Amino acid sequence: MALSESSWGFPLTAHKSIPNANPHDRQGFAHFMLKEIYEQPEVVRRCLAAYLKPDWASVQDSTAPSSLFNLPLPEQIFTTVAEIQIVACGTSRHAGLVAQYWLEQLVGIPTRVRSASEFVSAPFPLIANTLTIAVTQSGETADTLAAVAVAKKRSQSEASSQSWLIGITNQSESSLAKAVDYTLPTLAGAEIGVAATKTFLSQLVVLFCLALEFALRRRALSVQQVMPLIDALRSLPDQIEILLKQQHEAIQTTSLTFAEVSGCIVLGRGINHAIALEGALKLKETTYIHAEGYAGGEFMHGPIALLDVTVPVIVIAPEGTVYDSMLANAQKAKSNGAPLIGITNAATQDDRVVFDYALIVPAIDELLSPFLTVIPLQLLAYSIALQRGLDVDRPRNITKTLVT
Ligand code: M6R
Repeated sequence: MALSESSWGFPLTAHKSIPNANPHDRQGFAHFMLKEIYEQPEVVRRCLAAYLKPDWASVQDSTAPSSLFNLPLPEQIFTTVAEIQIVACGTSRHAGLVAQYWLEQLVGIPTRVRSASEFVSAPFPLIANTLTIAVTQSGETADTLAAVAVAKKRSQSEASSQSWLIGITNQSESSLAKAVDYTLPTLAGAEIGVAATKTFLSQLVVLFCLALEFALRRRALSVQQVMPLIDALRSLPDQIEILLKQQHEAIQTTSLTFAEVSGCIVLGRGINHAIALEGALKLKETTYIHAEGYAGGEFMHGPIALLDVTVPVIVIAPEGTVYDSMLANAQKAKSNGAPLIGITNAATQDDRVVFDYALIVPAIDELLSPFLTVIPLQLLAYSIALQRGLDVDRPRNITKTLVT
C-alpha cells in the first residue's frame, strides 16, 4: 500500500521544529500528540535558555563550587540534603526514575522514587534533611498533591531536622505550585494530547540541570566534567530535529508490524530502564496494546516466557555501558521468534543486523540518551494508534487535567 506523508498525520514540513506555536492550533498536524512531539526541539531550547546561565561558558574555576544554572533555590539545599524522595504518577514518575539515576550515579545522593498514590499509604522512612521533589505536568494530580501533603505533615512532626519541598510542573499557578516551597517550571507550553510527550522531555531538562547543579556544588563533578554534558544538552534540539526528520519513515514502516500482535515488550537497562517503562506506557495508552517495560536483566527471570512471533520486542540499546547486554537480550528474544525492533545509535551496520527494524538515534553520551531514545517510542505509539484508527489525542478511559 502506498502511503502519502499526510496519511500518517505528518505535514510535509514536519521535521522543522515549531517556535512558540499556539497550543490550540494543530498547525497542519493531524493530531496534537504529533504536533507536541515535533515541538520538543523548541521546548528543550526554551528550557535551556531559562535554566542555563547566559555566562555559563565563562565559568572555568574547578575548585570553587560554581553555579552554572538559574535555579532559584537556597544554597543550603545543595549542601545539606542527605536524601531525595521523588513522588509522581505515570509519565512524570518515569522522569523521576531517570533523575534517580542521575542523582545517585552522578552525584551520589540516595534517591527514592515512589508512585504518589503509594507514597500516601506507604511513605519512605523519615530521614533527616530530606528533599522531596514532586513532579507533575498539570500540578493538579490528586495523588501527587496528597503525597505532597503527607510529606509536609511528616516533616512538620520532625522538628529536629530540616526538609524541603520542590515542585516541578508545567503549571506555575497550579495547586502544586502553591503547596511547595519552591517551583521549577517546565516551560513546555500547554500540552493538549492526553499522552504526555513534550512535558516529559522538559521535566528531564529541569531534572538534569538540578542534578548537575548538585554535582557541582557537592564537588561530585568538576566544572570541566560538567561542561561537556552541558554541550551535549545544548546539542539536543538539533539532534531531536535530525531524529524526527530521518526516522519518521522508518517508524511508520515499523508500526505496520503491530497490525496483529498479542502484546509488546520494551526492554532497557540502566538509565534507559525508565524509558522502557515510559515507552510501554505510551503504547498502552494510545494503542491499547498490552505492552510492558522491563529491565533487560530482570526480563530473563520469567517474563521471557511471554515471547513468541506475536509479541514484538523493542530493545533500547544505546552505545555505552549496557550496549553488549542489551544486544544479548536482543539475540535471546530473536531466538524465541519475537520480531525485534532496536532503538540504537550503534555505529556499525554489523551491530544493527540483529534487529528486524533499527530505529537510529543520534550519538550522544549515554547519560543523556533518554532524551533521544524516548522519541521513537512516542512516534511509534502515535503511528500504531493512527493505523488502528484510534482517537490518538483522547484515548478511552483517561482524562487529563489541562490548565491553559
Ligand atoms: O499531570 P501529571 O504529570 O501529574 O499526570 C500524571 C499522569 O497521569 C500522566 O503522566 C499520565 O500517565 C500520562 N497521560 C501518560 O502519557
